[in-house]
Amino acid sequence: MNIRSVGVLGAGLMGSGIAEVCAKAGYETRVREVSEELAAKGLARLEGSLARAVEKKKLAPEERERARARLSATTQLSDLAGCDLIVEAIVEDLDVKKQTFRELDSLCKPETIFCSNTSSLTITEMAAATGRPDRFAGLHFFNPVPVMKLVEVVRTIATSEETEKTVLEFAKSLGKEPIRAQDNSGFIVNRLLVPYLLDAVRALEEGVGTREDIDRGMELGCGHPMGPLKLLDFVGLDTTYAIAEIMYDEYREKRFAPPPLLKRMVLAGRYGKKSGRGFYEYGESA
Ligand code: 3HC
Repeated sequence: MNIRSVGVLGAGLMGSGIAEVCAKAGYETRVREVSEELAAKGLARLEGSLARAVEKKKLAPEERERARARLSATTQLSDLAGCDLIVEAIVEDLDVKKQTFRELDSLCKPETIFCSNTSSLTITEMAAATGRPDRFAGLHFFNPVPVMKLVEVVRTIATSEETEKTVLEFAKSLGKEPIRAQDNSGFIVNRLLVPYLLDAVRALEEGVGTREDIDRGMELGCGHPMGPLKLLDFVGLDTTYAIAEIMYDEYREKRFAPPPLLKRMVLAGRYGKKSGRGFYEYGESA
């Protein structure tokens, strides 16, 4: 199928990044947020990233203008009706996602492909809420979306071969390198990453090392660009907590259970970089 227009549901950290890469790759891109305020916040984040890309000479100023011209935002789900492919990046709540896809299913043309950027929920269950499970796949991006090369393409038992092929090609057209994963909670990357991040919180909880030494250990000892506690702040403690809960629920294995310290930090509103404080303090909330 020939994809020309893309709808992005959600303009948060992931949604704004996904919209940015789609618009830069030449797709007419429409982002939908639930309120004008959140849409404006998402577009401002996207603008900041485009500015950084120009500053870092990753994007020519005229390409930025062309990307901007392809982008629009709306609060109406019906404005996404004409899109060829839709990527969902809203809150990690299965009921909300199912309801949104159910509504979109009645609005969109039958050929439109639906994708979810969920990191841990079951694609099969979302697909089953629509009348197009064969045209439904997982498309999982990594933060920061404009920078990270990887995308996980998730095929369920109901996804057609043609849909998988189209989604793989679409990911490549965004300049990404797709890998294929089964529809298991966490797919490939989070299945390995989440227990590691949770273990770093346990190490801090148990006084194994200071936050700085735990991070420095993995940065200098293993060549990771960010230590685990910095990465948790970057991804969002609330997001990681939600993912861990979903994965624990799916696998019932201790390694996915969120440690008490993580829960308390989330309860205290310490979500990481985006709230100004997580394991570290940040001058300005991002
Ligand atoms: N647009 C395009 N390119 C940009 C950019 C932008 N807005 N901002 C930066 N870049 C480019 C830079 O030019 C640079 O490219 P180069 O290597 O070719 O010179 C590269 O991106 C790195 O940028 P910086 O040098 O400014 O920044 P750092 O070197 O400090 O790296 C980082 C920042 C990329 C965030 C790095 O710290 C990193 O890789 N961290 C780990 C991120 C990670 O693990 N993400 C995955 C999280 S898990 C996830 O998302 C899954 C979810 O389900 C939880």
